[in-house]
Amino acid sequence: MTYQVYVRSFADSNGDGLGDLAGIRSRLPYIAALGADAIWLNPCYPSPQRDHGYDVTDYFDIDPEYGTLEIFEDLVEQARQYGIRLLMDVVPNHCSSDHPWFLEALAAGPGSPARERFWFRDGKGESGELPPNDWTAIFGGSAWTRVTEPDGSPGQWYLGVFTPHQPDLDWHHPDVPEMFDRMLRFWFDRGVEGFRADAVTFLGKTEGLPDHGAEVPFGKGSHLFTHHPDGHIAWRRWRRLVEDYNRTNDRDVLLLAEAWTADDPGALAAYVNPEEFHQAFAFDLTTAPWRADAWRKAIDDTLDVLQAEGLYPAWTLNNHDVERAVTRYGRADATQLDDVGRSNIVPSAAEVDERLGRRRARAATLAMLALPGSVFLYAGEELGLPEVLDLPDEVRTDPVHARSGGRVKGRDGCRIPLPWTVSPAGSHGFSPGPGAAEPWLPQPEDWGIRSAEALESDTSSILHLYRDAVAVRRKLTDLQGLDLTWHDIGPGVLAFARGNAVVVLNPTDHDLQIPPALLEGRRVVLVSDPSRRSTVRGTVPADTCVWLAP
Ligand code: NOJ
Ligand code: CA
Repeated sequence: MTYQVYVRSFADSNGDGLGDLAGIRSRLPYIAALGADAIWLNPCYPSPQRDHGYDVTDYFDIDPEYGTLEIFEDLVEQARQYGIRLLMDVVPNHCSSDHPWFLEALAAGPGSPARERFWFRDGKGESGELPPNDWTAIFGGSAWTRVTEPDGSPGQWYLGVFTPHQPDLDWHHPDVPEMFDRMLRFWFDRGVEGFRADAVTFLGKTEGLPDHGAEVPFGKGSHLFTHHPDGHIAWRRWRRLVEDYNRTNDRDVLLLAEAWTADDPGALAAYVNPEEFHQAFAFDLTTAPWRADAWRKAIDDTLDVLQAEGLYPAWTLNNHDVERAVTRYGRADATQLDDVGRSNIVPSAAEVDERLGRRRARAATLAMLALPGSVFLYAGEELGLPEVLDLPDEVRTDPVHARSGGRVKGRDGCRIPLPWTVSPAGSHGFSPGPGAAEPWLPQPEDWGIRSAEALESDTSSILHLYRDAVAVRRKLTDLQGLDLTWHDIGPGVLAFARGNAVVVLNPTDHDLQIPPALLEGRRVVLVSDPSRRSTVRGTVPADTCVWLAP
């Protein structure tokens, strides 16, 4: 299991209201107790933080807000002592508009070699006043921004498929792949065991940059810069580098892709294969409604494209971009078969029953943890944290909010600083109290009851369920392979075997009786229902998952 740490929101060691590396270091015992084999850190490179680290100004250092290279190396070392590997985030599609390369390009003017590292083009119209094409940015507005030339005149335009603060790099320029080669090695040499690669589907752009010609929905990219074959040249290069690095240094570093392919399951195979990424996230579960048929399709689609090659996905129900599962599953439209509301870039407005959502999130997690492949858990989900929906607009920092003119609330609600203690001092132990600054995003007042300390003392809490499940998953040899066999045990429910173990998920609103044949020779080893009502008699209550094993 890999534990995703959103650095800014995890633990603040020095009281400035921002999570940092020393904070993570101090919480390693907690992460180890959860059973993590690895930690994935969201970007912690120097950055103006306009997209919270996904806008990098220096790929070879640590942001002073988060610590120093020295602290980073110490974190790697201390994590290793707990048997935890450290993965970083690499952002290859774009850098920050404050990156020295971009500043150089602005100063150097049109036609300069410095501009060739990016996508600078002349505008259309009589005096170049119109963008070079009609592409829209994924986070809203045009994908093009006009610059002012060094002589003060209105000038060329540059491409940024996310925001104007994230100019896209042109990988045809030899400096670009060369810098990332150096970057990967730089961090591998410091003990980093792999990278989650950001936004890999957007790297290649259609030659000639033609017009898209129609409206693209908010949160999506045009097909003219999505899944373009040019991008794969980069991934093949990286895989060769990694193979070479592993061979030469007797290491086992890995590459994992963030590739949203939920509307096209086959597309995942283009990224995960022996020549490119070792793994990719399977995002289908984050977008699947709370229904057995949707879950089965999400699982089958993902496994079908990978299993044949002996490859496997990284399953996930939460991350720093999607509405937290507790809220998603608590929405009145959680069972509807459409993809509205599954992401907080295109959110649902349906009412939320948080208690129901938490019950379902417990069940969903248990089902996911039994799937073949690896699993990523996002810090805070083990506390059952909901999405914070009522943040005042003025505290929101996600560019999605501003770029959509406030129409889309954005992703701040799943990035709230974590509550560690029942006492509110220091933002529930997120910062050292007293005298610490306010956290960078406000916590809800009642988060003491959701704190790690509160859940620790309640053995029926979601925290204990996560710990137990991760531990059983590790021990149960039936779960180690790549096999999965479906059992049809009734409409609306999901049952699958992994070796001799059987997992039953009941996402319906009524009790389910497990067929005696499945119970024979097996006992209930885990149940998501906090009242543990399902056990001896083989009942699986509504919105519950059980694991049966010999
Ligand atoms: C995906 C990251 O997960 C997200 O947080 C970021 O905004 C975009 N890529 C752009 O880098
Ligand atoms: Ca701090």
